[in-house]
Amino acid sequence: MKKTSVKNILSKILFLVYFLITLQLIKPNKYKNMGFDNEAKDWDKDIKKVERAKIFAEEIIDFIKPAKNMKALEFGCGTGLLSYELKDSFSSITLVDTSSGMIKVLQEKIKRDGIKNFKPFCSNLLEEELKINNFDVIYTLMTLHHILDLDKILQIFNSKLKTNGLLCIADLVKEDGSFHSESTTFDGHNGFDKEELSAILLNHGFEIQSYKICAESERKIDGKIKKYPLFLMIIKKTS
Ligand SMILES: C[S@@+](CC[C@H](N)C(=O)[O-])C[C@H]1O[C@@H](n2cnc3c(N)ncnc32)[C@H](O)[C@@H]1O
Repeated sequence: MKKTSVKNILSKILFLVYFLITLQLIKPNKYKNMGFDNEAKDWDKDIKKVERAKIFAEEIIDFIKPAKNMKALEFGCGTGLLSYELKDSFSSITLVDTSSGMIKVLQEKIKRDGIKNFKPFCSNLLEEELKINNFDVIYTLMTLHHILDLDKILQIFNSKLKTNGLLCIADLVKEDGSFHSESTTFDGHNGFDKEELSAILLNHGFEIQSYKICAESERKIDGKIKKYPLFLMIIKKTS
């Protein structure tokens, strides 16, 4: 094919993409998101992720025993697996995630199942203000290790919680870095050490209520299955 016709085709494709973006038929994700958009469609097909959400939901309900009028926020909700398990335990649940793909799948599920008490947002709380506050509970599953600036996110969680409100962090126990070894873009934490995380939380006006290893995640590393323990830490906002 001649050079000029290749150029012609490429410029037509570029024009079409630009046109579709203008029409909002293609929405480029404005946040960096480690490929979660691509994973969203098949996220719920992984039974281990569904089971993991169930385990943490049971633990959260057991500890908090939420009153039906309580408002919750899920940070890094993905397709909403954890909130689905908690949907009858709170009066309303605000769900935020930076992946537009994840939020799209969540919105489709909300519509399909006629869920009335979910408020989903594609948003990055670290960069823009979500004007909903006074939550009784904030929970987050496997997301905090993606957040490099812990001080900033904990400050935000604190400001969004009522006094005596609870923060539930479900995440990876400190690991050797192999969990994200296949990713070239991961720039978060290799899990969390209980004492180190507790010290940071204390600095942000939180008091540790409970810590428990509740589940594990698996990855195939160099052809072998490696297990990664997951903890649930429940923390109270005291100031
Ligand atoms: C490992 S997935 C966990 C999803 C879900 N919590 C679950 O367990 O099925 C991490 C999620 O965090 C989201 N995420 C990463 N950084 C975020 C941020 N700054 N704000 C909100 N969500 C974020 C990703 O888009 C992704 O959906």
